[in-house]
Amino acid sequence: MEVLSEPLINSVELSYDTSSIKEEIELDTCALSDLELIGIGSYSPLTGFMNKSDYQSVVHTMRLANGAPWSIPITLPVPEEKAASLLAGAKAKLVYEGRVFGVIKVEDVYLPDKSIEARQVYRTEDVSHPGVSNMYFRSPFYVGGEIVLTRRVEHTRFARYYLDPVETREAFAKRGWKTVVGFQTRNPVHRAHEYIQKAALETVDGLFLNPLVGETKAGDVPAEARMESYEVLLNLYYPKQSVFMSVFPAAMRYAGPREAIFHALVRKNYGCTHFIVGRDHAGVGDYYGTYDAQHVFSEFDEEELGIKPLFFEHSFFCKSCDNMASQKTCPHDSSQRVVLSGTKVREMLKDGIFPPPEFSRKEVVEVLIKGVSD
Ligand code: ADX
Repeated sequence: MEVLSEPLINSVELSYDTSSIKEEIELDTCALSDLELIGIGSYSPLTGFMNKSDYQSVVHTMRLANGAPWSIPITLPVPEEKAASLLAGAKAKLVYEGRVFGVIKVEDVYLPDKSIEARQVYRTEDVSHPGVSNMYFRSPFYVGGEIVLTRRVEHTRFARYYLDPVETREAFAKRGWKTVVGFQTRNPVHRAHEYIQKAALETVDGLFLNPLVGETKAGDVPAEARMESYEVLLNLYYPKQSVFMSVFPAAMRYAGPREAIFHALVRKNYGCTHFIVGRDHAGVGDYYGTYDAQHVFSEFDEEELGIKPLFFEHSFFCKSCDNMASQKTCPHDSSQRVVLSGTKVREMLKDGIFPPPEFSRKEVVEVLIKGVSD
């Protein structure tokens, strides 16, 4: 089945004059990234930060108030003093480190119940969960309203990989791709990732490697080292004519199932027709079941999502098969499988120890070991 990408709603106005606007809202890093992503259409059909009615609808039903699927609240938090001074209907400049990046037309200001948001979105109120702790850490009130992006964020690191959805759509069209599978990752690409990417690519025209490079939790491999490792891997092991890479500058929420839906909707905006969801997508610790992020897709019609999820089982190298495999394709027991936890791999890299080549390609590990020790 071929699913066509939907029209893109975006709002960038670099000549917008903000000089007459008095009110200012200070953005945190996550809000700056969300502002940019709303502005360039990555979050289409969102046209601003969520008002109370969309927020509550998303928190409780994974849908906007108009019924369209949307699973993660995109909110603009402000402190109490600021909340008291903002008037509905007024405009406010959106400021980060002294520079104006956008304007919001304030629709409402509301006090969310963050414990409900935690339970509904993250399935836990445990503040050891990095997404939950970050949500609690942010200011208590939320401001809803449409935005205009008035200044582009300057991305100095790996600048050439920052492409807007209109640009990735163009790039896919230029290559004549009718079907494109998107791949989200916050990790280095190990053999299991490569296996599911290439298995998916066998069935479509192109693979869109779209690593998330916004805020991640302490302990995740930094984006700089990851980007270098992706470049090495693509150069050596992927065919140029069927793979395309650009970055996804969003913050990681670690919201598992909810984030898988969000990740899929966003990749549709970048022009993908298919999206890979493997084992414990966007998960952290033991908060989600291995395949919860796949099961959640049954709550939506493929038509309304506008993108087709491709599900993959937990993949590994099997020594008896002498091949990459999964439970579905391998008859041997776990003693034959090369499986390492993320924590174990990070420890090995820190100590300069190479994980086995069945787990991760040597060239990738070389870059990562260098990246960790820099
Ligand atoms: S994530 O937080 O971005 O999901 P990661 O970069 O590890 O983390 O995963 C990227 C994608 O690969 C996700 O869809 C995830 O489910 C999938 N994945 C990761 N490891 C495996 C594996 N061993 N087997 C199958 N799928 C996997």
